[in-house]
Amino acid sequence: MALKLFIIATVVLAGAVTVASCPPTDREALLAFRSALHEPYLGIFNSWSGYDCCHNWYGVSCDPETRRVADINLRGESEDPIFERAGRTGYMTGTISPAICKLRRLSSIIIADWKGISGEIPTCITSLPFLRILDLIGNKLSGPIPAGIGRLQRLTVLNVADNLISATIPSSLTRISTLTHLDLRNNRISGELPRDFGRLGMLSRALLSRNQFSGTIPSSISNIYRLADLDLSLNRFSGQIPASLGKMAVLSTLNLDGNLISGQIPITLINSAVSILNLSRNALDGEIPDAFGQGSYFTSLDLSYNKLRGPIPKSMAGAAYIGHLDLSHNHLCGRIPGGSPFDHLEASSFVYNDCLCGKPLRAC
Ligand SMILES: *[C@@H]1O[C@H](CO)[C@@H](O)[C@H](O)[C@H]1NC(C)=O
Repeated sequence: MALKLFIIATVVLAGAVTVASCPPTDREALLAFRSALHEPYLGIFNSWSGYDCCHNWYGVSCDPETRRVADINLRGESEDPIFERAGRTGYMTGTISPAICKLRRLSSIIIADWKGISGEIPTCITSLPFLRILDLIGNKLSGPIPAGIGRLQRLTVLNVADNLISATIPSSLTRISTLTHLDLRNNRISGELPRDFGRLGMLSRALLSRNQFSGTIPSSISNIYRLADLDLSLNRFSGQIPASLGKMAVLSTLNLDGNLISGQIPITLINSAVSILNLSRNALDGEIPDAFGQGSYFTSLDLSYNKLRGPIPKSMAGAAYIGHLDLSHNHLCGRIPGGSPFDHLEASSFVYNDCLCGKPLRAC
């Protein structure tokens, strides 16, 4: 009887141990991933020892049911006590090993703000069917976004901002119908945006500033119903602003500054959901549309450094709100309207035009 109990207990215990520890193949993949990285200051990988990679391995977590590695969450800037003790932010060199792709059940890969991780994004990550979050912000990654990125049919976050990523946006990217957050800021990505960018129907933030994008802004973007934040600034976009952008239901921030955009400001943008609008440093001409009204609520409206002519439209005085306004460095002329949106504005909002006058500039 005692022996029987002992045997049962042993079997149960052994079973518990096997369930609790991660599969040896996942552990090996993690160790191979680690061996391509060098983290000299914090010692985060010191915790990657023993057999159970699901238990107390820094930045590793497993699915409680399958016990497969589900998340790699390594942030070089964090509140974690390990950083406080070291009194510094993280720094890591090396590369992201393709061994990471052996972790078949990965749902998130966050390897962020390590400043020194270089090499390319392994192309094999496009074969991780459960991947939802790919966040590699703030490293020195180069090379392209993998061409097969569109295979990731569960991806919601793609963030490779602040790296040295080059080449063009792969055409397959617009097939990721689950994508909500696309952040490619501050890289070296060139070429045109896919014409069917608007297929990204779940997108709420599209941040593409500080790259080398060229060509026109695809009007299909305005089909993205949930898009709240569109930042295309500091690129080489040309052509006109699609008027349909001003008809978008929830678009509240539109940054197109620092491009080669020409033509007139669409009248639709003046009375729209957009509350932060930066069109500064382009080649916009024509007059500012005389279409401000109670629907015009601008926390910030920056139209500086363009080729705008004519007067400041009288309707602007009837806007619901204009917090920050910059009309400087244009060819505007005539009397600055009075009215509540203008009461708090200073001369700097109006300087370097052809012949504006009235408060807060010199009298007419
Ligand atoms: C608008 O964009 C310009 C050029 O990129 C930048 O200098 C300026 O600070 C921006 N304006 C606001 C209000 O953020």
